[in-house]
Amino acid sequence: MERFAPTRIQFVDDEAALARDAAERIVRRLAHASRDRERLAVCLTGGSTPRHLYALLATEAYRGRLPWPRIHWFFTDERFVPQDDERNNARMAIDALLDRAPVPRENVHRMRTDAADAHESAKLYETQLRAFHAGGRMDKPPPLFDVVLMGLGPDGHTASLYPGHTSLDETKRWALGIDMAGYEPYVPRVTLTFPALASAREMLFLVSGEDKRDAIARVMQNEDLPSARAHSEGELLWLVTRSARPAGAY
Ligand code: 6PG
Repeated sequence: MERFAPTRIQFVDDEAALARDAAERIVRRLAHASRDRERLAVCLTGGSTPRHLYALLATEAYRGRLPWPRIHWFFTDERFVPQDDERNNARMAIDALLDRAPVPRENVHRMRTDAADAHESAKLYETQLRAFHAGGRMDKPPPLFDVVLMGLGPDGHTASLYPGHTSLDETKRWALGIDMAGYEPYVPRVTLTFPALASAREMLFLVSGEDKRDAIARVMQNEDLPSARAHSEGELLWLVTRSARPAGAY
């Protein structure tokens, strides 16, 4: 695991600043990508931190700044609960952003939670990803995603990749079913694997809240946590609010 580079972390004032900074990076990245590609792909994270960003992107201010009809929306992970369950990550993103912006319904690629189980859902999602990604191979350019958004759990997990879980060592599969989450909500999960998440031009961690301070400190000290193992073929940046900044961090 490569050492955590302090340059990868940017501290921002608060959640509003986090949302603004992330939104501007997404706009810049997609505006650049849309010059030479018809289809763009963004991979959204779940949890509560990204809500501010999603709500900001849904405002009129961003209506003309993104090539909405050309963006495809994927998810880093999903709680294996019904689609209309309030714990469902895609439901949160749809309510906060995707139903409030000019997003073609067929461009929203949910992880299915009506499959037989999380493992079946992961297989279906991997098939969907391979179909979307020309050639169905990750080692051929272009990366799968233009932007991947990631969260950080207080235990150091990211997506639904939990400390000590065998899914951390997956090198071939693009998506896996997790029988039981290692952090609340304790339900089965579907998650992209590190190789799939890494197939990105830009990976942005969005972290806020005093409850993340310890996990950020552990990542900065190079502890082998799932979130620290996440890597990107392109850029990787941690956007962290002051409330989550460890004591003594610059
Ligand atoms: C999930 C997320 C998870 C989340 C972190 C942070 O399904 O729960 O993918 O990895 O990003 O737990 O969650 P908060 O933003 O709610 O703190």
